[in-house]
Amino acid sequence: MLNQVGEDQGEVADDGRLQLGQGLEIGDVGPDGAGQLLAEQRRFADVPVAVAGPEVRPILERMRESSLLDLFVGTADSALRTLFHAPGGTTVPVSDDSRLTASERDRSARLMRVNHAGEVAAQALYRGQALVARDPALRADLLKAAAEEEDHLGWCAARTRALGQDTSRLGPLWYAGSLAIGAAAGLAGDRWSRGFIAETERQVCEHLDGHLERLPAADATSRAVVRRMRADEAAHQHRAESQGAAALPLSVRLGMRAAARVMTGVARYL
Ligand SMILES: [Fe+2]
Ligand SMILES: [Fe+2]
Repeated sequence: MLNQVGEDQGEVADDGRLQLGQGLEIGDVGPDGAGQLLAEQRRFADVPVAVAGPEVRPILERMRESSLLDLFVGTADSALRTLFHAPGGTTVPVSDDSRLTASERDRSARLMRVNHAGEVAAQALYRGQALVARDPALRADLLKAAAEEEDHLGWCAARTRALGQDTSRLGPLWYAGSLAIGAAAGLAGDRWSRGFIAETERQVCEHLDGHLERLPAADATSRAVVRRMRADEAAHQHRAESQGAAALPLSVRLGMRAAARVMTGVARYL
């Protein structure tokens, strides 16, 4: 038997499951139903609580809390993996770097350390924006882009170490600062958040173009890594642009450039 809980708002079955109109089931509303709520929450994250009846409201609020908790746990997990474990299922091909002179190795290693720091920052920007995104589709896009770029982290770390240097010691600083910037960009609204993605990726593409000019011609592996990363960044830029990215004001674009310049300048050495 189903109990109607409000006009067009849903029904609670005897087994404690809630159904919304058209037989849409949103999960077990019993005390142990958190797992199912988590599994179903994204489909209904945009149901406005204000219009829900009194019986439905606590359930939707629980879904929101679960979603937020999920995001926070995911962000903490991402931070730890980004900073302390180079993820990525694709490995960099073993390369013969013996043709590089000592100064070429040093130059390549520093550039790849800068790129690794940039990828740490990128993971944090995506996560910060996802934490405050209102549109579940935007949040999904951000988390998808972060997952797609996990390989970049691993590639850059592997190349930096193969060339005899270590990744930036200031990783936690890059992550924390970028998480805050990403959240601030996201709080401005979803269209601005997409605009921020597009502008970030555009600037990253320019930055990588500069690295392709500066990387030694003999360092074919680092060059291949940078080219592949550039293709992924451009794809993320175009996806954001095709989904309604707002054009950012010049002052914001210049501020982003200045922040990136500080990070890349420091990460060359630390
Ligand atoms: Fe990347
Ligand atoms: Fe990116």
